[in-house]
Amino acid sequence: MDLANRNVVYLGGFGGIGQQCVQELLQKQLKSLAIFDLMENDKILSTWQQNYPQTDIFYHKVDITKKSNIEAAYKATSEHLNGHIDVVVNGMGLMNDRHIELTIEINLLGVIHSTLTALEYMSKPKGGQGGLIVNISSVAGLQPTPLMAIYSAAKTGVTTFTRAMANPFYFSHSGVGFITICPGFTNTALLDDIDNKTTFTYRTPMHDIFPMVKRQNANDCARNLIKSIEEGHNGDVLMLELGEITKVDIPEMWKPQLEQ
Ligand SMILES: NC(=O)c1ccc[n+]([C@@H]2O[C@H](COP(=O)([O-])OP(=O)(O)OC[C@H]3O[C@@H](n4cnc5c(N)ncnc54)[C@H](O)[C@@H]3O)[C@@H](O)[C@H]2O)c1
Repeated sequence: MDLANRNVVYLGGFGGIGQQCVQELLQKQLKSLAIFDLMENDKILSTWQQNYPQTDIFYHKVDITKKSNIEAAYKATSEHLNGHIDVVVNGMGLMNDRHIELTIEINLLGVIHSTLTALEYMSKPKGGQGGLIVNISSVAGLQPTPLMAIYSAAKTGVTTFTRAMANPFYFSHSGVGFITICPGFTNTALLDDIDNKTTFTYRTPMHDIFPMVKRQNANDCARNLIKSIEEGHNGDVLMLELGEITKVDIPEMWKPQLEQ
């Protein structure tokens, strides 16, 4: 998708990966960029507004655990734009297995509610013009990650939910495509203070391996995420690891056997 003149909504736009993605997006001559996040970073927002006056950049407070917040933000954005939303990036997240419900609420339920609400505005039968929804999963959403079993479960849910949304029948009905993004370890605050975020409190060899895992910079991840939006196709599952994009082919594990 050519991003020039598009209306984009980015959830988690003030986060480590989010800020870098917004920075990349703003170089694409967007028409507008709505940032949904838990807290406003007015300093960064006003810098972006000053540096990119051709793009209408605005913020909506959204606590992704609150469905009413999500619905209000999309409604206000649609009214503000007086037009359609072309691209949504569900890029918020939390990695802390000591908070089980919150981990599921932010990483999985948040993506589901944001996606279904966005479809109300983007889907062609609802008066939208179609577009693209990009859900940020993780390598932990491809491979079980025992150190963070709850986070891994939530992210696996994101991968499967997004792949299901990319069903070709849904795509031809709504005109909205879906891409799953699975970053590898990326240098942001999400990876800080890991010893207090693991599923269990007792020490394992995985605790010692964690700090040794190679990490990419958030700007490399962001550059590849924007490239994925520009070049990706409906149903793609793309791993963004150490500055590379790899298309992941997940095998079909089961087919329904039909009564004759
Ligand atoms: N950093 C990594 O190594 C890594 C690896 C794979 C996937 N990811 C995923 O990438 C995405 C961005 O992560 P990051 O590393 O930039 O983390 P980050 O902690 O820097 O940013 C997280 C963002 O989510 C927002 N957020 C958290 N709780 C929220 C809530 N209740 N409502 C609304 N927004 C909320 C935060 O305000 C922040 O903007 C997440 O989905 C994360 O799971 C990160």
